[in-house]
Amino acid sequence: MVIEKICCLGAGYVGGPTCSVIALKCPNIKVTVCDKSEERIRQWNSEKLPIYEPGLDDVVRQCRGRNLFFSTDIVNSIQEADLIFISVNTPTKTIGNGKGRAADLKFVEGAARMIADIATSNKIVVEKSTVPVKAAEIIMKILRANTGPGVQYQILSNPEFLAEGTAIVDLVEAERVLIGGEDTPEGQRAIQELCWVYEHWIPAKNIIKTNTWSSELSKLAANAFLAQRISSINSLSAVCEGTGADVSEVARAIGRDSRIGPKFLEASIGFGGSCFQKDILNLIYLCESLHLPEVAAYWQQVVNLNEYQKTRFTRKVIEALFNTVSDKKIAILGFSFKKNTGDTRESPAICVSSTLLDEGAKLHIYDPKVEYEQIMYELTNPYATSDPEKVKRNVEIHDSAYSAVAGAHAIVLCTEWDEFKELDYKRIYDVMMKPAYMFDGRKILDHDKLLSIGFHVQTIGKKLGRASSIRAQGSQTMP
Ligand code: NAD
Ligand code: UDX
Repeated sequence: MVIEKICCLGAGYVGGPTCSVIALKCPNIKVTVCDKSEERIRQWNSEKLPIYEPGLDDVVRQCRGRNLFFSTDIVNSIQEADLIFISVNTPTKTIGNGKGRAADLKFVEGAARMIADIATSNKIVVEKSTVPVKAAEIIMKILRANTGPGVQYQILSNPEFLAEGTAIVDLVEAERVLIGGEDTPEGQRAIQELCWVYEHWIPAKNIIKTNTWSSELSKLAANAFLAQRISSINSLSAVCEGTGADVSEVARAIGRDSRIGPKFLEASIGFGGSCFQKDILNLIYLCESLHLPEVAAYWQQVVNLNEYQKTRFTRKVIEALFNTVSDKKIAILGFSFKKNTGDTRESPAICVSSTLLDEGAKLHIYDPKVEYEQIMYELTNPYATSDPEKVKRNVEIHDSAYSAVAGAHAIVLCTEWDEFKELDYKRIYDVMMKPAYMFDGRKILDHDKLLSIGFHVQTIGKKLGRASSIRAQGSQTMP
């Protein structure tokens, strides 16, 4: 079989960019990205794509209508495809067995059943979604139990390692592509077919071939290791604040050891995003299912530390503001979970904002890419508040940082957008209430300069002289 047509089920943050890059690099392959959501497909076919990702517009503009199509015609796309990516969402279960930890595979199962119902010729089905180990077996069972005569399937695991905000570069210059398959002649042939697609632009030496279960577990393991590094440095940020050490200096010093390496050592208000927490919880559930409580507890601590970091930061904000933020105007700069994306899933800004709202603050929020409806959706959903009407009364969304900060008692910087480094902080200081407080949750600002302007400044992992003395005077509850 030579792959001529690819179908992708799921036009989200993974399906959209991944298939756009495949279409770019494989002009002879027809790539159709399908979604159940008509609205999402309409957006992919419009001038304003449903997700913001640097470089994505350009890739889509080059390929859309040539060999890249976005469609709700799932039946036709499945029928004509030689290879089908399953790139649907795999959220944490919110009800039933494994609630709060296990991955909910209902969308993966739904996709497999669609394929089984529709396919009339042989298909390679590729699991691109992040799934628990052995999920390929579920897909295989569904497909093989519902197969029409003469139709054969091969199931491959091909997890995606892109990070949001850098997805196009991550895909075009992937450090590695991982493909897992069955150790049978048919399984190995299917692996070769998928390798052939990637080899249009990825050097063969960068394509790792494993068995299916190693591939599935490697994805969970990669995210668990990355998140663990962040929790490790964040744990040390608390030690730094208590001792006078500077977490950036510590990160630089330890990162020079090539065994540790310099990346992913930025202390922050905690990791967010749709993957880290979900995938670690998934791993924890797997460990519990395998009766490995010590291993489960080890990974659970990475999540616990992240919760601690988010609440620790918010508590510091409240304590510095004389232990009450009731009716105070607080500007939140940045709402996405990291810079260069409009994605807010599990963003630490949600936890910070919700806690401040609970304490009676009035929030003025600005993010360069997150729209009004999305911020309101996050802050009014039942996980964030029991009183959505109060949230609506106390939140104002702005279209510039300067308008958000006018008259504010404090600024809380939650996302490391580059534009926040370039703001005129003297101008900002002049329009704020005094004393003016700055809480830099991403360590990106010039703290000496802010202090010289007159701000009281607090950041992560570093005790700044003036702010800490004010904080100690202002709060009776500091340890
Ligand atoms: P997403 O929610 O942005 O997109 C998933 C899409 O699948 C939705 O638009 C949904 O409507 C669609 N869908 C669900 N069932 C469908 C079906 N049967 N047929 C057609 N469409 C269907 O999710 P995402 O962020 O793209 O993540 C997808 C998967 O990739 C998840 O398993 C995630 O863990 C994994 N992943 C995500 C990232 C990331 O950065 N977002 C990175 C690596 C891996
Ligand atoms: C992650 C993985 O990096 C990627 O390989 C996987 O495919 C999906 O999950 P993503 O969540 O998009 O990607 O972004 P990432 O850059 O990993 O950042 C996740 C969170 O960690 C963000 O909130 C970010 O601000 C935070 N982070 C990252 C830190 O706090 N410190 C760091 O040093 C790095």
